[in-house]
Amino acid sequence: MIRSAVTAAVLALPLAASAVHQDAALRRRHAGLAHSPTYMRRASNYTLQNKFVGEDFLYVASNWNFFSESDPTSGLVQYLDADAAEAAGLATVDCNNVTTLAVDTNETVSIGGLRKSVRISSPETYNSGLFIADFQAMPFGCGLWPAYWTVSASATWPDGGEIDIIEGVNLNTENQITLHSGPDCTLNNTQKVTSNLDGTQCASSPGADSGCAYSQTDPRSFGAGFNNASGGVFAHLWNTDGVTVWFFSRDEIPSDITAGTPDPTSWGTPAAIFPDTGCDISSHFYDHAIVLDTTICGDWAGPAYTSSGCPGTCEEIVANATNFENAKWLVNYISVYQ
Ligand SMILES: *[C@@H]1O[C@H](CO)[C@@H](O)[C@H](O)[C@H]1NC(C)=O
Ligand SMILES: *[C@@H]1O[C@H](CO)[C@@H](O)[C@H](O)[C@H]1NC(C)=O
Ligand SMILES: *[C@@H]1O[C@H](CO)[C@@H](O)[C@H](O)[C@H]1NC(C)=O
Ligand SMILES: *[C@@H]1O[C@H](CO)[C@@H](O)[C@H](O)[C@H]1NC(C)=O
Ligand SMILES: *[C@@H]1O[C@H](CO)[C@@H](O)[C@H](O)[C@H]1NC(C)=O
Ligand SMILES: *[C@@H]1O[C@H](CO)[C@@H](O)[C@H](O)[C@H]1NC(C)=O
Repeated sequence: MIRSAVTAAVLALPLAASAVHQDAALRRRHAGLAHSPTYMRRASNYTLQNKFVGEDFLYVASNWNFFSESDPTSGLVQYLDADAAEAAGLATVDCNNVTTLAVDTNETVSIGGLRKSVRISSPETYNSGLFIADFQAMPFGCGLWPAYWTVSASATWPDGGEIDIIEGVNLNTENQITLHSGPDCTLNNTQKVTSNLDGTQCASSPGADSGCAYSQTDPRSFGAGFNNASGGVFAHLWNTDGVTVWFFSRDEIPSDITAGTPDPTSWGTPAAIFPDTGCDISSHFYDHAIVLDTTICGDWAGPAYTSSGCPGTCEEIVANATNFENAKWLVNYISVYQ
């Protein structure tokens, strides 16, 4: 299913002014990596720019931005800032470096009220890269709408574009991969992919904000099936040739990914390809922050709630804290290579 009108309007995140300083600090921190001596044998065509993992991910050096405004997609969530999320135990790191981003399972909410959740965005922005995200689990269940995506931090949506790598609602069993953009951008793919094509109009206008999209066919790509398989890796390569996405269930993660020397040419048929043939990728997608969030109901999970086979109404499901035990992102790491 493609999100219907307005529903896709996930607004660009204003990055805190301090992000500029964090950027500089990060660049200094990674300068050694960026300028490794050329006489070294090149183990990979890609150089690590950022690896977000463990304490380093949330609190210490990298300082992801916690978005705490009302949900631009009308979800019944109250996004917490970093201090509140930490105090409520909704953003934690365990001794194995697994980062948990959870929805509140403690409070009873009135019908139509908001449940606490988190939405975080990366301190740095990107104009290309090879992004590798390893999750052990994603939020799953009636009312939930989790997403792992990137969006322009400098332009006003849909300009600057949005790349949705993981997204789905309620009891969906397949992941949807979507691009949203400003005018004159379509999906024109002739290469083999493992997903079904959902729509080819990436531009919000005249595309009514639906985006160009693929639905994966592997039930391990989303929700219960993803979690049952202990998750896996979503990797995407974004460059001037387009955006190409691969999915590897836990048992199938290539050893070059685990070793930190990724070689996409060895990864086989992608889940999705958005080539530059129907869209000038660089002028439509730029200055992207990485975003990870969990909303509830809202513009997509709300209208799709009943047809998903969920009980009662979406507002009722939000009220009951016991419904959100599985509403957790378990993040092993997110790496960005250039
Ligand atoms: C759980 O809820 C109670 C009352 O609603 C509140 O006082 C308490 O701080 C909450 N605990 C957490 C960890 O959020
Ligand atoms: C956790 O990550 C840090 C880097 O942020 C690393 O130094 C440490 O060895 C990791 N610990 C475990 C248990 O993997
Ligand atoms: C859970 O995973 C096991 C294999 O690890 C598989 O046999 C089973 O069918 C899966 N169940 C669901 C509901 O995906
Ligand atoms: C580097 O890229 C070339 C050309 O795309 C490819 O043939 C080769 O396998 C890559 N090597 C590694 C180590 O990634
Ligand atoms: C679609 O891509 C193919 C090459 O893959 C190209 O020949 C064709 O002109 C493109 N069509 C449009 C409408 O851009
Ligand atoms: C909350 O949800 C659980 C499981 O969905 C259900 O068993 C319980 O009766 C519900 N409680 C209320 C007060 O609705």
